[in-house]
Amino acid sequence: MTQAHSRPRRAEGSTSRPDNHIIVLFGATGDLARRKLLPGLFHLAAADLMPDRYQIIGSARRDLNDEQFCELASQAIAEFGLSKPVGEEWETFRRRLSFASAAQGRTASLVAAIERAEQQIGGEPGRLFHLAVPPAAFESTVTMIGAAGLARGSRVIIEKPFGTDLASSRALNQTVHAIFDESQVFRIDHFLGKESVDNILALRFANGLFEPVWNRQHISYVQIDVPETLSIEERAAFYDQTGAYRDMVVTHLFQVLGFVAMEPPTSLDARHLRDETAKVFDALQPIDVRHAVRGQYAGYQDEHGVPRGSQTETLAAVRVEIDHWRWAGVPFYLRSGKRLAASRQLITLGFHEPPLRLFPACMPASDGRRNEITIDFADPGSITVGFLAKEPGAEIRLGAAEMIFRYGDSFCTGCGLEGYERLLLDAMLGDQSLFTRADAIERLWEISAPLLDNPPPARPYVPGSWGPQPALDHLVAPYRWHLPDGGSRRPAHQATADRAVSS
Ligand code: BG6
Repeated sequence: MTQAHSRPRRAEGSTSRPDNHIIVLFGATGDLARRKLLPGLFHLAAADLMPDRYQIIGSARRDLNDEQFCELASQAIAEFGLSKPVGEEWETFRRRLSFASAAQGRTASLVAAIERAEQQIGGEPGRLFHLAVPPAAFESTVTMIGAAGLARGSRVIIEKPFGTDLASSRALNQTVHAIFDESQVFRIDHFLGKESVDNILALRFANGLFEPVWNRQHISYVQIDVPETLSIEERAAFYDQTGAYRDMVVTHLFQVLGFVAMEPPTSLDARHLRDETAKVFDALQPIDVRHAVRGQYAGYQDEHGVPRGSQTETLAAVRVEIDHWRWAGVPFYLRSGKRLAASRQLITLGFHEPPLRLFPACMPASDGRRNEITIDFADPGSITVGFLAKEPGAEIRLGAAEMIFRYGDSFCTGCGLEGYERLLLDAMLGDQSLFTRADAIERLWEISAPLLDNPPPARPYVPGSWGPQPALDHLVAPYRWHLPDGGSRRPAHQATADRAVSS
């Protein structure tokens, strides 16, 4: 077991390129590698952010030759990549691709491919293993890396969900720690690689405007809402074992909550930042099943590969509370589901209503819309502050108004990196700031136990709707979900028209 060097790169504002590297993609023929990893690595190369010298070795149980793997990569990049596989850039990149199959007890060709790559690069390149394999294969893949003698000095990226409950996440951590030191382990959650999620730190801690009101004295509720129009696609085998809570809530949504709720860290380096999210998770109260809604879209059980009678939820919504001085008494509502009416990624902070006795003619205030800050963290992202303003005219009448920051209006969004790209780069640089720590993930499973042990029945909902009602509305009462109509009590069609104008 060796320690990999971890640099506080974010804290230093450094934009250096990583040292020379060999990257091994396990699961290289799978969906994640095709959609995100191969296109992402090529985009990093096109953006001149890859090391001077590097080799990418695809690996899977099945056998491909190098030519077939290059063809697979080319097709994947053409279909899903920002940078297209053409010209000199692509030719240079493809020369660095090779393939070596591997399985438990059958690692000779992978070891040989790594040795070849080391000779081609020269010196002592870093070694990064990315486990883009089904969660059930994490332990065996880590064990295989150890048994092949490849762990020393390497780093390993492990996908999510990391475990399925407290006991399995502990067992997985034990297996991983038997082979890697924690400083070598990068548990990835691609939501933390999103530009607008990282921007939460800038919004809160680089401005005197927001942080003073970012607490229970001023905020009455927080919503983290990620509806998706997508179905489970071709992922029945994974999804039916996982469900919306494990796939989205315990991973992505809680990580976003960590950024929204944390105290100011001493610095942005991995230790300080992760200490603060861990403190938030420590203060989370175990989930109360009375404050949880599970839903399943009609037709889910007819999806190819889903067993009849499956009780797996395709929608999960929970109310959680953080019991410390900043947030005590403020409900955090987390919701995500498949086949809903829209795909959005929104954080909403609702403010206490001030006394409105100056505006008696307008009671209830405007259309019931409250002061809200809404952070849309789907790339390229935006932040909206909703407030009340006087409508023009001789009378005092209040109307809902908005101030909007859109990334694209202020910055060159073309220069940004997609979540996975950003995190692959950070892993090569040895920066663990945006990766999940062992204790933090275990704590999230711990507070999830009441729901996992005693899940309420999955309520059916109509595909294309906003999920099972009235259960979802009851969950957030006396507040309202910001989606779909901006939290207002206006008819939905009016709110839709407003959004069309503001987008
Ligand atoms: C993945 C989940 O981690 O995140 C998927 O497994 C989900 O079910 C996806 O659709 C959403 O991520 P994004 O940011 O790519 O829309």
